[in-house]
Amino acid sequence: MSIATIDKNTLRDRARQNVDNGAVTEGYEGDREEVIRLLNDSLATELVCVLRYKRHYYMAKGVKAQVAASEFLEHATQEAEHADKLAERIVQLGGEPDFNPDSLSGRSHAEYKPGSTLKEMVYEDLVAERIAIDSYREIIQYIGDKDPTTRRVFEDILAQEEEHADDMADILEGL
Ligand SMILES: [Fe+2]
Ligand SMILES: [Fe+2]
Repeated sequence: MSIATIDKNTLRDRARQNVDNGAVTEGYEGDREEVIRLLNDSLATELVCVLRYKRHYYMAKGVKAQVAASEFLEHATQEAEHADKLAERIVQLGGEPDFNPDSLSGRSHAEYKPGSTLKEMVYEDLVAERIAIDSYREIIQYIGDKDPTTRRVFEDILAQEEEHADDMADILEGL
């Protein structure tokens, strides 16, 4: 149905139905349960990334590690912001954000690889970013035009993960 064919009164009536659903209107075309599940898996990914970058920030020692350490910290902060955006969207869709630490690493796309040397840490971060990039790109393709807001959330996050991967690749080259 094109927007021109939707009568204004129909739109107004529809908006009054199921007001309990908040931001989720009758016109929502996504598979809500599935979209919430994808958002929750991504939330787990971001939380695992926060933890990994935090560890790397505190473990990065020496003059050579200073540049990497400041990138680790910046990324940790940005992954936490991504987690917040995802949790916010889950609630808008009527779901519950899953912060359960017991199942976090199992649900995450990327793994928690601690790494011991600076090189190992940067390498594992680059791998994790590449996993996030591929999973978010796939999610964006799956969502298509069915849920533009969730899609935009993922697109914004994806753009930043690509920057993160680029940062890690640059640092890795110099190690
Ligand atoms: Fe992220
Ligand atoms: Fe990232």
